[in-house]
Amino acid sequence: MKKVLIVFGSRYGTTENTSKMISDALSSKNLEVNLVNIKDMEPSVEGYDGVLIGTGIKISMWTKRIKKFVKKHKRIFNNRNFKFGFFISCGTACKKEDVNEAIEKYIKSKMSKIGVTYDLCDAFGAIYDFSETSLLSNMAKKMMKEGLIDDGWEKIEDISYDLRDVNQIQKFSENFASIL
Ligand SMILES: Cc1cc2nc3c(=O)[nH]c(=O)nc-3n(C[C@H](O)[C@H](O)[C@H](O)COP(=O)(O)O)c2cc1C
Repeated sequence: MKKVLIVFGSRYGTTENTSKMISDALSSKNLEVNLVNIKDMEPSVEGYDGVLIGTGIKISMWTKRIKKFVKKHKRIFNNRNFKFGFFISCGTACKKEDVNEAIEKYIKSKMSKIGVTYDLCDAFGAIYDFSETSLLSNMAKKMMKEGLIDDGWEKIEDISYDLRDVNQIQKFSENFASIL
C-alpha cells in the first residue's frame, strides 16, 4: 500500500476541511493517508510515496508554520524520491476565472522565491462561515460580506457558505493518486 502525507495549515477551517476531502478521496483509491494539522505537530516527510501540503491564505500569506515547514525541508523537496503537491484555499479561487491568478500569486511566485519545485498544485475556494460558531472575527465577517456584496450578492445570511468547487478538489486528488 502506497503512503501519502497531507500536512495542512488552516486559520478558519477551510483548508482543514479540504484536506479531509482529499484524504478521503486518496483513501478510497487504496492509499494509506496520514493527515496532520501542522498546529498539532511537525511531521517527518521521510518514508512516503507522496507528500501534499495545504495552506489557507490571509492577506496574501500562507500560515507561518507552513512557510517555515516548506523552507526547512527545501532540500528534501528538491531532491525528493516522492511526489510532491501543494494546494491553497483562498477567496480569489472562489471564482473559476480567477483560479489561475491565485495559483500564480499564492503558489508559483512564492514557491519560486523560496526555490522549491513540486509536481502538482492547485488553488481551491473558501468556506465563508458567518454563523455564530465561525472562527472569523466580526471585523473579518464584515469585510468578507462587503466583498460578496461587491461581487453582486444580494442577501447574506448568518450561515456558512461553501464556495469551493468540489469536483476540482476531487480531480486534484485523482491526479495526485495517478502520479504516485
Ligand atoms: C482577514 C482575511 C484576509 C484574507 N486575505 C485573502 C487574500 O489576500 N487573498 C485571498 O484570495 N483570500 C483571502 N482571504 C480569504 C481566505 O483565503 C479564505 O477564507 C480561506 O478559505 C482561508 O483558509 P483557512 O480557512 O484554511 O484559513 C482572507 C480572509 C480573511 C478572513
